[in-house]
Amino acid sequence: MAKYLGETLISKDEIASICESLGRRITHDYFGRSVFLIGVLKGAFIFMADLARNIDLPVDMDFISVSSYAGGTQSTGVVRIIKDVEQNIAGKHVIVVEDIVDSGLTLNHLKQLLSTRSPASIALCTAFDKPERRRVAIDVEYVGRRIPDEFIVGYGLDYNGIYRNLPDVRILRDNAEE
Ligand code: PRP
Repeated sequence: MAKYLGETLISKDEIASICESLGRRITHDYFGRSVFLIGVLKGAFIFMADLARNIDLPVDMDFISVSSYAGGTQSTGVVRIIKDVEQNIAGKHVIVVEDIVDSGLTLNHLKQLLSTRSPASIALCTAFDKPERRRVAIDVEYVGRRIPDEFIVGYGLDYNGIYRNLPDVRILRDNAEE
């Protein structure tokens, strides 16, 4: 079914203020330490860039790329690592950075996996959260904004690979809804 770009759910100004607020909280919580950001590709790359620039601490970073749910079903929640983190995270204060948490399966799996590598601490940070879609209980320490269960694009989020570059978050609608 054909899709069209619907209304703006979160404007670029609101996104900027979300990033400032999360950056301030992280700066406060990790005062006197450095943090190691791990961005989950592809969606998190734009948020990661904005978040990092709002953290007033020494920040190191890396990226991880995963394919959702190896085996084809969401029931296991096991994600396949396409590109792993390249640096040793032992002893580091790790913050995993996502654009969105939906079922929670990706972050849940990544947290378990990265925890086995002896970081000093591990926290989760997402720009957007769809709590209605959650299938696994997971504590996300830093949430930019909770959103309703709508299909959204922009600010890193795609539909068939496009729209990641939109500066605002928009709702993608089906033409039939008109
Ligand atoms: C999205 C998002 C998270 C995951 C969240 O990635 O960036 O990684 O889905 O969903 P979950 O909470 O149900 O696990 P996607 O698979 O769309 O890949 P992309 O970031 O490359 O677009």
